[in-house]
Amino acid sequence: MTIENMKKKVQNDPWRLKYHVMPETGWLNDPNGAIQFDGTYHLYYQYVPEDVNGGATHWGHMTSEDMVHFNQEPIFMSPTETYDIDGVYSGSGIEKDGKIHFFYTGNVKQPGDHDYIFNGREQNVVHVVSPDGFEIERREVVIPHADFPEGFSDHIRDPKLFEKNGHYYMVLGGRTEDNKGSILVYDSPDLEKWNYHGTMIDGNEDQGYMWECPDFFELDDKDVLILSPQGILPEVYQFNNPHAAGYVIGELEWDSVKLTPETAFQEFDRGFDFYAPHTFEDDQGRRIMWVWMGIGDTNPEYMNPTVTRGWQHAMALPRELTVENGKLYQRPLPEYKEIRYNEMKRAIGAADDLAGEVYELLVEMEESKPFHLTLRQDTELIYDGEILTLKHGRSGYGRRKRMTPIAEVTQLQIFVDTSSIEIFVNDGEFVLTTRVYPEVGQDLIAFEADAKGTMTYWDLKLEEE
Ligand code: FRU
Repeated sequence: MTIENMKKKVQNDPWRLKYHVMPETGWLNDPNGAIQFDGTYHLYYQYVPEDVNGGATHWGHMTSEDMVHFNQEPIFMSPTETYDIDGVYSGSGIEKDGKIHFFYTGNVKQPGDHDYIFNGREQNVVHVVSPDGFEIERREVVIPHADFPEGFSDHIRDPKLFEKNGHYYMVLGGRTEDNKGSILVYDSPDLEKWNYHGTMIDGNEDQGYMWECPDFFELDDKDVLILSPQGILPEVYQFNNPHAAGYVIGELEWDSVKLTPETAFQEFDRGFDFYAPHTFEDDQGRRIMWVWMGIGDTNPEYMNPTVTRGWQHAMALPRELTVENGKLYQRPLPEYKEIRYNEMKRAIGAADDLAGEVYELLVEMEESKPFHLTLRQDTELIYDGEILTLKHGRSGYGRRKRMTPIAEVTQLQIFVDTSSIEIFVNDGEFVLTTRVYPEVGQDLIAFEADAKGTMTYWDLKLEEE
């Protein structure tokens, strides 16, 4: 498909999302370089405009003044250099002296017969200086692949930057020679000279063979490490997607830069489409997370039928993170209240007239009771008092069932778009994020529960029509 044809197909697709970030055409994956600079929010992302199935990635770019309305900007970087010719891979941004410094992985695959894991691949750390998030003043390799420490495969990537007491740190995700995950730490006084400091934490054989997209920050007096392990072993109720994304909370010892975990590695999301979370702190001091509402290396039955309509994947709604009760809570940004219209409030049990395709639904129960919620054709959310089950029928296109033990459920905040559902349980304690592809007009909402409480429904629209 040519880009022109893709653009035409995209225009007629009722599955185009109404209030989520998505590619104009082609493929989108990880969020990158998120920052608020001079008041403006910037989001960059892994992007291949000309191919719905991915390829050598560019950095797409969007800006926003309010985190709700996004403007499509020209592509920020393309894989044009010898050190990134097979992809301007993931990375992050940090402000210093009135400029944005981006760091990304330049992916290179050497021609020939290689496995591209232990040989044939280069992943270079590239430094990009921008005065404003649009122009590039300087773009150069700061850690060439050849300088990575011994003991690793060729997979070391996705630099995420942070600063502490005027000193700079970079974490990178790595795959060791014996196929374990690891987080490498570099440090720098000035973002120019980089020293290898050691690993922050090392995985064992059950924790995956490669850790992608690390993110580290201090939040609510704790230290948090986020990572996206490839190949982590599934447990009964966790890690059932092809790859997982999760976090540990603990304490970092700053001299050695070693993290002592105080929690187990916990999965972030209990739905089907969630990978490569990436955070930034905004001017209000909020820790905001972007995340790819998609996943790689899926089994053949899992599909996104938009591939025949010229595009694939999107970002989930941006969420604010907090540390509470040894967990990361995720809450949709309050800014999204501005796009609520036509409120309808009903008592549970008297809500049989609710229906919609693009909406927010808030269920508030006086106490935890079993329930059965059906929405968008054949998506069901069932709570039996112990386990919360998310099930899709045909509209799930291969996404079948996920089960999560939860002791009590008293509140649900659900964001539905034309082809996505995000379910926040107990004010952000658990979240289930998933793509669905229902037929147009499949809009009935049914909630059955022997519970007291209310259901509030809003149409969601970026602009009032
Ligand atoms: C995660 C990832 C990153 C890499 C990027 C390439 O989804 O594999 O590790 O930088 O995507 O698009």
